[in-house]
Amino acid sequence: MVQSGPVLGIEGTAWNLSASVFDNDLKTLYSHPYQPETGGIHPREAAQHHAAQMSHVISEAVRDRTDGISAVAFSIGPGLGPCLRIVATAARSLAQRFGVPLIGVNHCVAHIEIGRYATGFTDPIVLYASGANTQVLGYLQRRYRIFGETLDIGLGNALDKFARSRELPHPGGPFIEEYARGGSYIPLPYTVKGMDLAFSGLLSAAKDAQAPLKDVCFSLQETAFAMCVEVTERALAQTGKEEMILVGGVGANRRLQEMLAQMCKDRGARFGVPPSQYLGDNGAMIAYTGRLMLEQGDVLPIPESQVNPSFRADQVLVSWRDSGEMDRYLTGAVINRQGERQGAEARIQIGSCTQKKRLKKPYRDETLDLRLITERTRAEARLIAAARRAGVPTPIIHDITKDTITMETIDGILLKEVLTPENLQIAGIMVGKLHHAGIVHGDLTTCNMIMRNSQCILIDFGLAGNSSDIEARGVDLHVLFQILTSTAEDAESLQSAFCAGYQSVCTDAHLIFAREHEIELRGRYL
Ligand SMILES: Nc1ncnc2c1ncn2[C@@H]1O[C@H](COP(=O)(O)OP(=O)(O)O)[C@@H](O)[C@H]1O
Ligand SMILES: [Mg+2]
Repeated sequence: MVQSGPVLGIEGTAWNLSASVFDNDLKTLYSHPYQPETGGIHPREAAQHHAAQMSHVISEAVRDRTDGISAVAFSIGPGLGPCLRIVATAARSLAQRFGVPLIGVNHCVAHIEIGRYATGFTDPIVLYASGANTQVLGYLQRRYRIFGETLDIGLGNALDKFARSRELPHPGGPFIEEYARGGSYIPLPYTVKGMDLAFSGLLSAAKDAQAPLKDVCFSLQETAFAMCVEVTERALAQTGKEEMILVGGVGANRRLQEMLAQMCKDRGARFGVPPSQYLGDNGAMIAYTGRLMLEQGDVLPIPESQVNPSFRADQVLVSWRDSGEMDRYLTGAVINRQGERQGAEARIQIGSCTQKKRLKKPYRDETLDLRLITERTRAEARLIAAARRAGVPTPIIHDITKDTITMETIDGILLKEVLTPENLQIAGIMVGKLHHAGIVHGDLTTCNMIMRNSQCILIDFGLAGNSSDIEARGVDLHVLFQILTSTAEDAESLQSAFCAGYQSVCTDAHLIFAREHEIELRGRYL
């Protein structure tokens, strides 16, 4: 520990300007939200609001403090450029005036830290659901790894945009929650790719739906939240972690909390959500994270304090936590080759043949649940067979019912347990062949590839589909590369070995790699 003492935190990445002081606990929190007269956030107007309210908000936050401030922390990104710059300017001048260090806090990491603080959980999987962001994260070796996230808009924005299209007041989330009570289910698009999500197809279908408003609100929530819960459950299953927290503004939604609590209960994991004043954007999370950083001497010289509108959580070197054990990650994946195993969505019985039964999920609306189970079981059997015909090794299917597939047992070892460049190259050839045949897998993880005698057998085709789109294939690769980055130490060499194999068989490889890169860089912020 280097230093401690009261830290002033200022948050103003989007619509809410908020400040707080953290000493040994959180006593003060003062916020002044910008409320657009029409439509969503206008970045320049929000910035003007922050500039006009800054001195008032700061003086309210530091009021009654007799002891001096020992550092000024501010959210340095991600967020709206004009808003970030106003907050940074104020933070710099306060730090100079008090003669104390300046601390640049990543906004997403601050949401996670306040969530850990408020729940007392030590090593949770995090679902961060706000207006602009929707991510599933977990800690490993000094970084918050992003296991999955939205590929288009944030969950909160999707809800607000829908509300606006129906002329409900802004922000629309609470109104949708209210209207959803007593609604019934109508089918809407459900999009999960590996651990990533997409909301824009769901949003446009909901906007166009002809059903009564309460049914559309109900189904929009049920669908969007079930997608989030599903990817969160996958992250729990894959990492073996036993705690889960929900943070971010959408975290205030009771139905989302209820669904996550149910999922965690069924898995034997603990679920927590911070009190509502720490869910939406708030200065307290910046003050608290600033204090953790101050204790590590993690301060920022003023010339290096420029804001970063697309600052991602996994770019932050987390100096205040120990490294986190790699072993924990493997416990989730170690498989008893014979016997029963429960994954994120199915129970698998491995014997002389393998039975995969998709389980009912009590957190999901019953009709949606039944739809997903039958659609995925059917798709899986059909595409496993199609892949085989295209020369990609997959298990032979023996039988299929509404929820159960009986197939050949592949006696090998999961790619996850043997991550070598040689094996990744073989995997690259198989995925390249699959894509070349117009099939995308939808969940390309190292748990869904089994190595046997220098062959790579692909399994788990429940999210697969027919597509030769550059985008769909790019997303497929993106899912795999994300897994490599979040679980392997030498991800880069593994990725290039994979690419070497892939491009030897798939003609559009260079276009698909370029698209994958674009997907990775895509600003996920507004
Ligand atoms: N045909 C099979 N042969 C051998 N092992 C299998 C087979 N199918 C599944 N498994 C094992 O069970 C695990 C989970 O199966 P999977 O189909 O991927 O379901 P989930 O949806 O739970 O990920 C796999 O990672 C693998 O270890
Ligand atoms: Mg699987």
